[in-house]
Amino acid sequence: MTLQELAFSEEFRSQFDLLLRLRRDVRRFRSTPVDEAVLTRCLDAIQLAPSVGLSEPWRIIRLTSDAARAAAFNNFQAANAQALAGYSGDRAERYAQLKLTGMQEAPVQLAIYCDDATIKGHGLGAATMPEMRRYSVVTAITLFWLKLRAEGLGLGWVSVLDPDQLSQDLQVPQDWRLIGYFCLGHPEQTSDTPELEQKGWEVRRRALPIETR
Ligand SMILES: Cc1cc2nc3c(=O)[nH]c(=O)nc-3n(C[C@H](O)[C@H](O)[C@H](O)COP(=O)(O)O)c2cc1C
Repeated sequence: MTLQELAFSEEFRSQFDLLLRLRRDVRRFRSTPVDEAVLTRCLDAIQLAPSVGLSEPWRIIRLTSDAARAAAFNNFQAANAQALAGYSGDRAERYAQLKLTGMQEAPVQLAIYCDDATIKGHGLGAATMPEMRRYSVVTAITLFWLKLRAEGLGLGWVSVLDPDQLSQDLQVPQDWRLIGYFCLGHPEQTSDTPELEQKGWEVRRRALPIETR
């Protein structure tokens, strides 16, 4: 069969739908280590991502040292305390009960950046909308997220952070912008419901809002 003739089967489509439904943001991990070969396969998915002008602006820092991880976790704790202070009453109580990071348990932790100054892609698309480089990194993270889930692993996106402080602690180049901090590992549970919905913070919309003009 040639690539032109290739069609995905009904079974594949239903498995793919299941993958989308069971992709979760994971904050609770088992202590089981992540197999390096599996991790590499998942990271390879990033290289298949679309990017503006084929600029491939993603840059990845793997945090392996206790010092780097401690700096990131301290950063989270300070940002989380600040975020909590922005709520009051019942919302504050609910916020305080949420687990918003698996940084203390996750066996693999990555900080993913966008190189805003890359010359790869020769500025195509990014000249008019430079933010497209950052969106490109987000598309790559989405592929990575799905691939991890397909391999039985989970990813948790942490954005409760001071990005400038993290960039300083990790000594990244000035033109790199933090897109997210990611905790990876074997999830404690499988669920088709977001944890924030399970905990009564917010609900997923049941219908997609589409307007016409
Ligand atoms: C850009 C982005 C940033 C996020 N930041 C955080 C975060 O800091 N902490 C957290 O617990 N979840 C974070 N999440 C996960 C969302 O809370 C989660 O995607 C949403 O509640 C829906 O749940 P689901 O991903 O399991 O479907 C983030 C997700 C995205 C896409």
